[in-house]
Amino acid sequence: MDQQLDNFTFVLFGAEGDLSSRKLLPSLYQLARWNQLPDKYKIIGVSRSEIGHDGFRAYAKKSIQEHVSGAVTNTEALDLFCESLYYVCTDLTEAKGYMLLRHEVDTMVASESSCSNLLFYLATPPGLAPHIIDNLEKAGLGGKSKNCKGWRKIVIEKPYGFDLKTARELDAIVGRVFHEEQVYRIDHYLGKEPVQNILVFRFSNGMFEPLWNRQYIDNICITIAENFGVRTRGAYYEKSGLLRDIIQNHGLQLLAAIAMEPPVDLNADAVHDEKEKVFRSLRPLTKENVRDHVVLGQYEGYRSEKDVAPDSTVETFAAIRWSVDNWRWKGVPFSMKAGKNLAKRVTEIAITFKCPPQNFFGPPDSCSYTANQIIIQIQPEETIAIRFGTKRPGKELVTDPVFMRFDYKTSFGHGKMTPYQRLLLEAMAGDQMNFIRQDAVESSWKVIDSIRESMKGVVPEPYPVHSWGPELKQ
Ligand code: BG6
Repeated sequence: MDQQLDNFTFVLFGAEGDLSSRKLLPSLYQLARWNQLPDKYKIIGVSRSEIGHDGFRAYAKKSIQEHVSGAVTNTEALDLFCESLYYVCTDLTEAKGYMLLRHEVDTMVASESSCSNLLFYLATPPGLAPHIIDNLEKAGLGGKSKNCKGWRKIVIEKPYGFDLKTARELDAIVGRVFHEEQVYRIDHYLGKEPVQNILVFRFSNGMFEPLWNRQYIDNICITIAENFGVRTRGAYYEKSGLLRDIIQNHGLQLLAAIAMEPPVDLNADAVHDEKEKVFRSLRPLTKENVRDHVVLGQYEGYRSEKDVAPDSTVETFAAIRWSVDNWRWKGVPFSMKAGKNLAKRVTEIAITFKCPPQNFFGPPDSCSYTANQIIIQIQPEETIAIRFGTKRPGKELVTDPVFMRFDYKTSFGHGKMTPYQRLLLEAMAGDQMNFIRQDAVESSWKVIDSIRESMKGVVPEPYPVHSWGPELKQ
């Protein structure tokens, strides 16, 4: 283990849910196997079914075997991990179940009575978060509870609220029961290696940062495309839509990482301060200008998906042209395109540089043909490519675009952690840098609420499955 973590108890709310089964339990198992967890740890699953400790262990074992390759044969490691699992059955909205949880925590830390280090993970539907936090407080398990020496942390999954109003309501409860430095609002995009690398790429290399501004950059384009639809999540999408599901969090976080100023140091607050300035520099999209800068789409066939209304006007696609109104970026368009059922699955950021002042080499439009670009691909490949023009072999002086490419796989091989593994470790270690601070939640909801309000009544444009969706107005 790189950093010695404190012994602790991990309390997993929504223990039988999809996220726990697909991501969290498998990630915890892998971290244990790689010796990344502390010497002593306990995981308490909390959920409604009366399955008991053994039932939860069996459930976890099955989930891990389904989602971790090699786990089926490595029964010894799996059995050992499952010995750390415990279970509390309760309706999460009822206070009395939390006394059972407290009892379970106390039993495990013997004489220390609820004073072990506790990390609560809310892998539950958003409506339950206020109940859980409220009930933790009533049971004396809140972060501000006076009688306790151990640390307390809470990890809260997205969506964090549903709009500015509900996010503020949730924050009022969170802030009553926990200190901000105990709160980890998770966006799994911030656990992706190439996303974490943006900060390093920009600020550890002397050659890029001097060019990273309106003088040299022509435009920036962020794409978050998926080549599948809403699958089984029709009901969720009907309430959410793509603006809330993808842009409010993943999209705006990528934009902030690309546009932010260098932080004064690598303290989480210093990084969050710079990201917050980016959100505050986004030009408001209002009724007057929104149609020039935003287009919403819905893939053909969405209305026939399970749990989707036959006349649904929910968007499954958005293209947005943002303006970041500050000294560095004024006038540089940041285009963002995100959608379901698009032509391919790709998340990338393309930074296109301005052409040189004189174009000596043909063909006549060769500037846009060979314009310098830095393309940061986050998935499916994890690469950074630099595009530049080069002389096409032969007698004539004409240029062709070529690429220099860095690929994580080639340089570092396989075996890296998944976003959830990385973020779980960061939360355990108390590093909030790759989590969302409260002010960023508010700022990003403000932006999304304003687009939604300004686009009220606009029916998303239909687009064919596996196309690139509707175009923004030029
Ligand atoms: C989630 C969204 O946050 O991110 C999903 O709710 C989306 O709709 C997913 O599919 C994309 O994550 P990734 O890591 O597969 O790009």
